[in-house]
Amino acid sequence: MEAINNANQFINNNKNRVGKRWYPAYHVAAPIGWINDPNGFCVYKGEYHLFYQYYPYAPEWGPMHWGHVKSGDLIHWTHLPVALAPTESYEKNGCFSGSAIEKDGKLYLLYTGHVGLFTDADKSYHCESQALAVSDDGITFTKYAGNPVITVPQLDGVTQKNFRDPKVWKHNDKYYCVIGSTENRTRGMLLLFESDDLEQWQFKNVMARGEGNMGTMWECPNFAEIDGHEAIIFSPQDVKPEGNKYLNVHQSVYMLGKTDYDAGVFEYQPFEMLDYGFDFYAPQVTQTSDGRCIMIAWLNTWWSEMPEKADHWCGMMTVPRELHIREGRVISQPARELQNLRKSETAYTDLKLDKATQLEGICGDVGEFEIAVDVTQSDSFALKFRVSNTEETVLSYDKATGIVTLNRDRSGVGKVGTREVVIPMRDTLKIRAYLDKSSLEFFINEGEYVMSTRVYPADNADGIVIVPDAVLTVKRVAFYKFS
Ligand code: FRU
Repeated sequence: MEAINNANQFINNNKNRVGKRWYPAYHVAAPIGWINDPNGFCVYKGEYHLFYQYYPYAPEWGPMHWGHVKSGDLIHWTHLPVALAPTESYEKNGCFSGSAIEKDGKLYLLYTGHVGLFTDADKSYHCESQALAVSDDGITFTKYAGNPVITVPQLDGVTQKNFRDPKVWKHNDKYYCVIGSTENRTRGMLLLFESDDLEQWQFKNVMARGEGNMGTMWECPNFAEIDGHEAIIFSPQDVKPEGNKYLNVHQSVYMLGKTDYDAGVFEYQPFEMLDYGFDFYAPQVTQTSDGRCIMIAWLNTWWSEMPEKADHWCGMMTVPRELHIREGRVISQPARELQNLRKSETAYTDLKLDKATQLEGICGDVGEFEIAVDVTQSDSFALKFRVSNTEETVLSYDKATGIVTLNRDRSGVGKVGTREVVIPMRDTLKIRAYLDKSSLEFFINEGEYVMSTRVYPADNADGIVIVPDAVLTVKRVAFYKFS
């Protein structure tokens, strides 16, 4: 308890040091300090709980704790005390990523205990195993005395060095858990375990392994049920760039398929990226009581610049996205609950624009923007967000190639560059954007493709400009303020 109390006390005593210029208005971020992966995303006693990899003491990655927020509606989040701190020998260097599940009214966390063993031969050598913690109230957790509950199985090429991020779920009367791993650090693999009670686990099988350019190590696996289809969502490291794909340091992908629970194998189809922007990693999903699959990811990537460190905080989550199947693909739409954030609406319909246009009321640094363009009647165009005299972030569409480009060369401080995605031709091109103080998330054609990025503009950069190449036929454009 002492380590948890220290962390909570530090947060309370120091959170007013956090600078607010880029701090999100409605996305989840830590009260102070560093966050990375979402963890333990679940529904417990009718509320959403979201935990996250957390180092409260500095805006830098450090010995991982689990931060914690909860929400009744997926959009208003309440900060709760730190849930886990690394105190035991099997987690000496951090309580790494994991998941949560309700059983008999209690909330169980299954996470990776990380221990650095740093030998002369291998400075990065470490040991990973899986540990359990349980709570009666969803706030205070007790670590299981029999931890670790899962250690690395005896398999050729698999070691305790890369054996992490358990995702637990229930199927029929059994619990299953998939863990991220690698074979000889050359190809990613997922290991499946089975349990009757969450405490005693048996290794079942290699659930899936990569072939070709599918990465060297698979982190943060999720088992997801999407509109009656099964999918594995995970974050492969070291996938090599292919055209406009896989340009971030590591990727987050899904693959549809089918689990053979007797064999312990997932027959998968080729994987595909979940987000084509700059900042998106380690997504986690949970199933809602009305049968939807909701995903939240870290709205950052490893090794990016993260200028908010200067303000004593670092890292944030994406908006919740609901996953659906359309034309054999997984699409990510903003969770429908986000509509409840709308406080006021300014909308225009049936416009013909032939020059760069700023429409009254269509502006802001926090809120939701939407546009529907009649592509049959229009040429290429660009949309500029967070615009000031010197700054802008540009999303442009090239009709001839179908390429949508996100450009952050003039977004403010931080890393620059472009990301692209080729979208299929439709009669109407719809773009919905969620704007927050240092983030933009673009949903193209109702979630067919998504591009997310962090941006660090000045406070006064709140313009939105529509820039037609020639003539643009806008069926509807709107901005919703959130306050
Ligand atoms: C992914 C990851 C996980 C690990 C955690 C450590 O971003 O590397 O594999 O559990 O971060 O913070």
